[in-house]
Amino acid sequence: GLKKKEVNVLCLGLDNSGKTTIINQLKPSNQSLFGPLSDDWKHVSQVKTQTQDIVPTIGFNIEKFKSSSLSFTVFDMSGQSRYRNLWEHYYKESHAIIFVIDSGDKLRMVVAKEELDTLLNHQDIRSRRLPVLFFANKSDLREAMSLVKVSQLLCLENIKDKPWHICASNAVKGEGLLEGVDWLQEQIA
Ligand code: GTP
Ligand code: MG
Repeated sequence: GLKKKEVNVLCLGLDNSGKTTIINQLKPSNQSLFGPLSDDWKHVSQVKTQTQDIVPTIGFNIEKFKSSSLSFTVFDMSGQSRYRNLWEHYYKESHAIIFVIDSGDKLRMVVAKEELDTLLNHQDIRSRRLPVLFFANKSDLREAMSLVKVSQLLCLENIKDKPWHICASNAVKGEGLLEGVDWLQEQIA
């Protein structure tokens, strides 16, 4: 068949925000958002299927999956402070960014904003029109801030030089993820 366009996606955000849970939902399984694992990928040993036990990421993980038109390589980075210095090494080769926020973590919203600002001001990101998809994740939590509140606290309106989009999500149930990924695909395609 036609060769799918290869895109590198960098998944960033503080530890415990839900990055790996989101990426896991996008991986092949019978319930996957992208449907079951297609035959042309079954022999690729790097392709892993969904897992039940998600643990804090050490360093980063690379995950691959396909949609109808794109072939994604996702760099699922650890959000722990001691590993955040790894993020920048992957900026140059990335075509899109997914930035995940724990909507229930009011105390660390300022830290999340600091990391976002550092990202957006980085020399390998600043000059580029790469799409940034935000997930205001854990929207199921009783104490979760609204999407509007999260957007305001992160000052997303100030991002003028890149296409961006924010979705509320519940990664555990897989809610809100497809809307975001659809947007991202439109931006890249
Ligand atoms: P690091 O790898 O340490 O950077 O964390 P991470 O961003 O990959 O977070 P991870 O996916 O490991 O999720 C952290 C915890 O949050 C896990 O216990 C998840 O089950 C939980 N979690 C993730 N998404 C949601 C959500 O939408 N709602 C709720 N209630 N819990 C979630
Ligand atoms: Mg993780």
